[in-house]
Parts: sequence; C-alpha cells; structure tokens
Amino acid sequence: MLTLISPAKINLFLKILGKRADGYHELASLFQTVSLVDTLHFSLVSQDSLTCTNSFVPTDASNLIWKAVELFRQKTNLQFAIKIHVEKIIPVQAGLGGGSSNAATTLWALNQLLRAQIPIETLILWASEIGSDVPFFLSHGTAYCTGRGEKIKSLSPLPKLELTIVKPSQGLSTPAVYSKLKLSSLSECTPDDTLDKFYQNTPLYFNDLEEAAFTVNPELVHFKNYLLKCGFETVLLSGSGSSFFCLGQSTSKINDSFHVSFINRSNSSWYSK
Ligand code: C5P
Repeated sequence: MLTLISPAKINLFLKILGKRADGYHELASLFQTVSLVDTLHFSLVSQDSLTCTNSFVPTDASNLIWKAVELFRQKTNLQFAIKIHVEKIIPVQAGLGGGSSNAATTLWALNQLLRAQIPIETLILWASEIGSDVPFFLSHGTAYCTGRGEKIKSLSPLPKLELTIVKPSQGLSTPAVYSKLKLSSLSECTPDDTLDKFYQNTPLYFNDLEEAAFTVNPELVHFKNYLLKCGFETVLLSGSGSSFFCLGQSTSKINDSFHVSFINRSNSSWYSK
C-alpha cells in the first residue's frame, strides 16, 4: 500500500496569449502548489476499484485517475490491478486543479508501486495526454507553464507566503469560462517581466480568466468585493475559478475557507505537508 498527498494549485498570474487553431488557448502562467491536499491510498490487488469520500466526484471512467491508470497500462504494457481510495478535500470546479493533481499523483504512485522506473520527463509527456494542467503537478511545485499549460519550466521555490483560499458555493466549468473570453480586452502585462517580479519580491497578481468567469456567473463579482471588504489586500480568481485566493488578513470569519501555504517537493520525493 502507498499513501500520497495530492496538492491543489493556484495561478499566481495567468496571461492568455491567444486562441489556437485546435480550440485551446495559448497561455503563460506561474503555477504554485499549496498545502490544501487530497490524500490518495493505492494498493495492488486482483481487481481495479476507485472510491472517494465525496459522493459528487464521479468514480467511473470520466475520473482523470482512470485516464492516468489506463495511460500507464497502455504505455508500459504492464499488467496490474489497482485499488485507489481518495480522501477528497480539494473543492471541485474550483480552478484548483484537484482532478489533474489526482491524475499526476496516480502516475507517480504507479511508477513507484510497479517499480517501472519511468523517467520523470517521460511521465510529464504522458501527463499532457490526460489534461493541460496534469504535467505541472510533476514539477517541483513552482513552475512557469506555457502552451496550453502543459509545457512546464520548474522554478526554484518562491518566498513562503500564507494565504486563504475561499470557494464560493457555485462551481465553474473550465470550457464555459474559456468560451466567454474576450481576446480584445485582456491585460497588457508581459509574462516574462511579470515572472521576474515574483523573484524580485514585487509580485503582480492577475488572471486574464477573471472577467470571463464573472460573465459566466456575475454573482462572483459581488463575492470578490465581499472578500475585499472583509479586509484582504489581494483577492484573485484561481485558474478558471470559482475559488479565490486571498492575501492579507480578514476581519471576519469566512465560510468554506482554507488557510494554506506554498509547498514544494524535492527531486526524488513526492510532496509532503
Ligand atoms: O486540457 P483540459 O482537458 O484540462 O482542458 C479543458 C478545456 O478547457 C478545454 O477543452 C478547453 O475548452 C479549455 N482550455 C483552453 N485552453 C487551455 C486549457 C483549457 O481553451 N489552455
């Protein structure tokens, strides 16, 4: 049996560069893993099974965990059956990459349990076939991601930061948010300069998907304003939402909020809290 945590991510900045012929959007984003985590238990058994503590999470073939298992089987030709149990804490439809993180954690776990010795660079390539955000979770936890998000450049850890993640009751669908993007009214920041700012301790937080998310669900504008009124200095949508990450302190108690910090992993080991 192998038990691994599966961390959430936030996008410290997310710049959309344009729409591609294949329908995806070209982006440049600074991704960071945080200490809001699911816990996954893996054991090699005689029959495949997947269970999850959250009954709203599908456990059928649509779950990215099964996509990771099937991909690992197909690429390695190894025969195995795996029992996986997910203790789900990361909110879903939240822009926190929970499903993608679970898939990346599964690739790492199978490589360990089956002693397959697949190099991390290869796992990262395979991960991009599962979803745009999956490769990032195989980085060291801080990465500059480009392309549709799958091209990752691992970076050294950022200065530690305490933050609060808040999930409004309504979730958001990623394709719905992307479909509302107005390419003519995006930020003019240059991604490379913005990235430098984070390492010069003058960070600039922005997310080009925020306006589109507000168009899909206008209630979210009020929710962001409410969080700012609570006393947070910076409030920004993570990824395609609907969760926000907040810097600074709130003067009121906020429902469904998580106090987190950045986490990173070392070269040879998986994430730990
Ligand atoms: O790659 P993934 O399956 O996670 O993407 C989900 C959806 O999000 C895509 O089908 C697309 O509508 C949108 N998307 C996009 N551009 C990206 C990433 C995702 O338009 N860079």
